Amino acid sequence: MRILGIETSCDDTGVAIVDHRRRVLAESLHSQTAMHSRYGGVVPELASRDHIARLAPMVDQCCAAAGMELRDLDGVAWTQGPGLAGALLVGASLGPALALGLGIPGLGIHHLEGHLLSPLLDEKPPAFPFLALLCSGGHTQLMEVTGLGAYTLLGDTLDDAAGEAFDKSAKMIGLGYPGGPAISYLAGHGDATRFVLPRPLLHSGDLDFSFSGLKTAVLTLLRKLGVDPHNPVSTEALAPRDRNDLAAGVQAAICEVLCVKAMAAIRMTGHRRLVIAGGVSANILLRGMLGAACANAGVELHCPHPRLCTDNGAMIALAGLLRMLEGEAPRGRELAAQACRVRPRWALESLSPPAPVASAV
Ligand code: KG4
Ligand code: ZN
Repeated sequence: MRILGIETSCDDTGVAIVDHRRRVLAESLHSQTAMHSRYGGVVPELASRDHIARLAPMVDQCCAAAGMELRDLDGVAWTQGPGLAGALLVGASLGPALALGLGIPGLGIHHLEGHLLSPLLDEKPPAFPFLALLCSGGHTQLMEVTGLGAYTLLGDTLDDAAGEAFDKSAKMIGLGYPGGPAISYLAGHGDATRFVLPRPLLHSGDLDFSFSGLKTAVLTLLRKLGVDPHNPVSTEALAPRDRNDLAAGVQAAICEVLCVKAMAAIRMTGHRRLVIAGGVSANILLRGMLGAACANAGVELHCPHPRLCTDNGAMIALAGLLRMLEGEAPRGRELAAQACRVRPRWALESLSPPAPVASAV
C-alpha cells in the first residue's frame, strides 16, 4: 500500500510517498523561506501562489523518484488544517482531485497529528501510550496520546508559541525568518549566562506555557544596549558578541521552560515515553536537555529525525496511511465532499480515532 502525502499548510510545499511498512519511498520539499524572508514573515497570498506553481510537478517528481506512476498509488492524504486558508486550499484541491480521478481513497489530515506521529517513521517507533510535547511555529502543547486519534490536551500556551518566541526574538536582534535555526546557530557562539531572560510559568504548578514576556525582556535589553529593536538598521548594527549572547539567552530560556514542563507532565501522568515533535523539536539544545532529563528519569525519549521535525509531506502520508489501515478511507461521494474543505483553526484534541467507512480499502 502506497500513500501520497501533501503538505501545504504554511510556507513549505511537502510531498512524499510512504508505504505500509512506513518506509518513505520518495519525498520532495520546497521551503519558501527565501521568498518570505524579505518581508520578515509569511505573506499568505505569496505562499498560496507558490504552492499552486510547485505542487503538481512535485507530485510527478516524487512518483518518478519512487519508480511509480500515479496509478500505482493506493491513497492520498493532504493537510486539511490548521494553517493559512489559502495555502491549505491548494492541497485540499489537488489531493481530493487526484484521489477521485484515480478512484482511490483520500483523507484530509490534521497538521499537528502529522507532527505528533512523525516519530513513528523511525526504525524504533514509540508504542502507545505516550506523552507528546508539540512545539511548532504556532503551537506549544503537551498532549497525552493513548492511541491514534485519542489525544488529551494537558497544557497549552497562553499567548505566543515557542517557535513564535524564537521568530520574534530573532527579528528583534536582526536575524531573518524563521528565527529558530538562526538563533540556535548563533547561540552556539554565545554565552547563555550573560543575559538571563525570564522563564515564565516555570514552576506554576500547571502545564501551561507563556512566552510573550520573553519578547518584552529582549526589547528592554536591546534598548539598554542602545539598539532600537524596531529599526532594522539599528538591530543590524548590534555587536556580534551581544547578538550571540542574546541568542544564547533566548534559546536557554525557551528550552528550559519546555524541558521543565515536559518533565513535570511526565511526573504528573506517570508516562514512561516522551515524544517531541514540530519545528522547535529540531533544536539541538532542547534535544540534549530532554535527553539528559529523560535518561535521569528512566523515560524513553523519541525525537523525529531532524528533517521530519519541520513541515514535510511524509508525516501527512503516514497519518493518512495509519488511518486508512484502520478503515478510514473515504471514496466517491464522501471523498468529493472533502474537496476544497479546509479548517484553518482546528483543535487537535477534537480528533477521534479512525472511523471505518463503508467504502474502505
Ligand atoms: O512545525 P513547523 O515547521 O511549522 C509549523 O507548523 O509552525 O515549525 C516552524 C517553527 C518556526 O518557528 C521555527 O523558527 C522553529 O520551528 N524552528 C526552530 C528550529 N528549527 C525550526 N526553533 C528552534 N530551533 C531550531 N533548530
Ligand atoms: Zn508544522
